[in-house]
Amino acid sequence: MQTDQRDSFGSRFGVIAAAAGSAIGLGNIWRFPYVLGENGGGIFLLIYLILVAMVGIPVMLSEFTIGRSARRNPYGSFRKLAPGKPWYLVGLVGIAAAFMILAFYTVVAGWTLEYLYQAIANGFSGKSSTDINQMFDTFRAGTFRPILWFLIFMLMTSWIVISGIRKGIEKYTKVLMPFLFILILILDIRAITLPGAGEGLKFLFKPDISKISAETILEALGQGFFSLSIGMGTLITYGSYIGNRERLGNTALNVTLADTLIAILAGVAIFPAVFAFHIPPGEGTGLVFKTLPLIFQEMTGGYVFAILFFLLLSIAALTSTISVLEVIVAFFSEELNISRKAATILASLTVGLLGVLAAGSWGWFSQFHILKQSVFGILDFTTANILLPLGGFFIVIFVGWFMGTQKVQMELSNGGSLKAGYLPVFVFLVRYVAPLAIALVFMNGLGWI
Ligand code: TRP
Repeated sequence: MQTDQRDSFGSRFGVIAAAAGSAIGLGNIWRFPYVLGENGGGIFLLIYLILVAMVGIPVMLSEFTIGRSARRNPYGSFRKLAPGKPWYLVGLVGIAAAFMILAFYTVVAGWTLEYLYQAIANGFSGKSSTDINQMFDTFRAGTFRPILWFLIFMLMTSWIVISGIRKGIEKYTKVLMPFLFILILILDIRAITLPGAGEGLKFLFKPDISKISAETILEALGQGFFSLSIGMGTLITYGSYIGNRERLGNTALNVTLADTLIAILAGVAIFPAVFAFHIPPGEGTGLVFKTLPLIFQEMTGGYVFAILFFLLLSIAALTSTISVLEVIVAFFSEELNISRKAATILASLTVGLLGVLAAGSWGWFSQFHILKQSVFGILDFTTANILLPLGGFFIVIFVGWFMGTQKVQMELSNGGSLKAGYLPVFVFLVRYVAPLAIALVFMNGLGWI
């Protein structure tokens, strides 16, 4: 029924822009630098790259394969491909993860708007490092502003999603992604021409094996899943809108390369500056919000670079929040049989409630803890380090062992019209390498083995 009137991407570039737009986000520019900073620098990057190649690409391609062959939301896709079997649970967990991710992610996206506003209003100028640290802590502990910016960001996200795939998501990401790329290149050039930039580049690119630990590896896996938008059905959903003539293998490879490149470029933009100004790299979630404004106000042209940077962050966040909201909207509209508009409103309202709690994690709701973590902390940790790897595990197992090699082959070769010579490698990866790697890293990281 939905198949005929289902929306779809209109062009090859549109597919890449939308999927790369989903992948490239706060995960690359905010999360990657601070997680890398806390996990010893270069060694983290090295493990990260290995895991992205061995696990990330197979999971991403598996999601595209499931989505395009079923042409449904994640839950509906598993129902369709494995009728009467419990695989739909993987889809349902994915939808739940989408709620959780969107709630805390949009809170951070809201912070980027506050900081964009501050940058424009020249709010960092003349402040000492204590002032700037305090500015972030005070803002985050407030009630009104974090919630207000969160809601504004939620509205922008809904506005795009409500317009659909081709006229909403594709239209915006096609313009925003090239712009984002130019912005980050400008910031990179500024960073590597700072005196003392070499120290930062060394931290980023020179692996120090002594800093390796089980948690570092789990963090790298979690970061990889988070950054590539895999493990919960975002790319099943986007895959369901990809045309039959696109090459899924190429798409997955291009999106992974783009995402990895931007993460590295973000590191190159941030660490030289962090080291040039003698700031400890293990600052945590505040890294870009506390250290960068300080750096901007001390460096030549800082006023403009601060605006460009927070604009970059907001754009990167927006092309990602729309992809997560789309998962829930596709689910609601297809499974409850309601219009896209009604589904978007329903999804945004429910996420909005959870997000208001997450936004209060440092303020009005900071007394509330589960396992010593705030709402925000719980949402971030459980999704990235538990639900996504778990989802990814079942997704590759499904494609490797249950979907049927014939069917996978047909999907990846576009019904036999493409060679897709990588197929045997892909099958080997999804059957053995990826599931094993996820299981080992996961159990090891949680201290089970
Ligand atoms: N990948 C995005 C980022 O790096 C965030 C994101 C979008 C995401 N969709 C996702 C993370 C699905 C996990 C799962 O910022």
